[in-house]
Amino acid sequence: MDIDEKKLGEYYANPPEDISLADVDLERIPHHVSIIMDGNGRWAQARGLDRSEGHVAGVDSLREAVTTSVRLGLDVLSVYAFSTENWRRPQHEVDLLMHLFATTLLNELPLFHQENVQLRFFGDIDALPKETADVFREGLAQTADHTGMTFALAVNYGSRAEIARAARELASEVAAGTLRPEDIDESVISSRLYTAGLPDPELLIRTSGEMRLSNYLLWQLAYTEFYVTPTLWPDFSRWDFLRAVKAFQGRHRRFGGVTER
Ligand code: FPP
Repeated sequence: MDIDEKKLGEYYANPPEDISLADVDLERIPHHVSIIMDGNGRWAQARGLDRSEGHVAGVDSLREAVTTSVRLGLDVLSVYAFSTENWRRPQHEVDLLMHLFATTLLNELPLFHQENVQLRFFGDIDALPKETADVFREGLAQTADHTGMTFALAVNYGSRAEIARAARELASEVAAGTLRPEDIDESVISSRLYTAGLPDPELLIRTSGEMRLSNYLLWQLAYTEFYVTPTLWPDFSRWDFLRAVKAFQGRHRRFGGVTER
């Protein structure tokens, strides 16, 4: 997407000593950045707070990540907010997260309108509590005609479940005679995933230092560059985003071959 360099310059004014906007090549901004937002609980516990305070603080980082992505001209920002495994957390934490997702989305709708951001979800949102599912559907409807950046929230998402769901769908079509097994190729499988129609992430950021994929976008991350930072999610700022993009631009991407594509 187009970058408004004046707005971008203002947004990145007063840089810290180690990074500035001049460190990134605006011609080579990744199209799709995905983030595993991790470390909210540790951030809160380090301050003697309840874990939920970390999630609340994480909302500010998320808003900043969305604004930063729009300013940098990304086509897609996706974030992992709640996995199919996260239901195992204490009920009060699950309830808080579900409520936080709903209230945050409602609060941020004006930002999505202002910035022309289109919402999308990865995961089974029909299985969410009614309040959350209703707000998510409302967000989808209200941003459906937006033509700017896509902001995708992975909620109740698990990559293996996503692939199994795609396999079931394809098997049904074969059984119904509407699809031939020999026509199933990588692009057909991609078209049945929650990410259908979106470019694969070029950069995956994971905060809080964990070196795991945690059942996230296993198919889509085949050639993605990983950037892991020890920074906990509530501390992740626009400058950290810039550091990640700079690191990405310093990588030599080979896609299994020998030369950069
Ligand atoms: C991981 O930290 C974070 C989550 C499971 C929830 C992510 C939610 C937010 C960032 C809040 C805002 C999000 C939206 C969509 C409004 P953790 O709890 O696993 O941290 P820990 O590893 O330190 O325990």
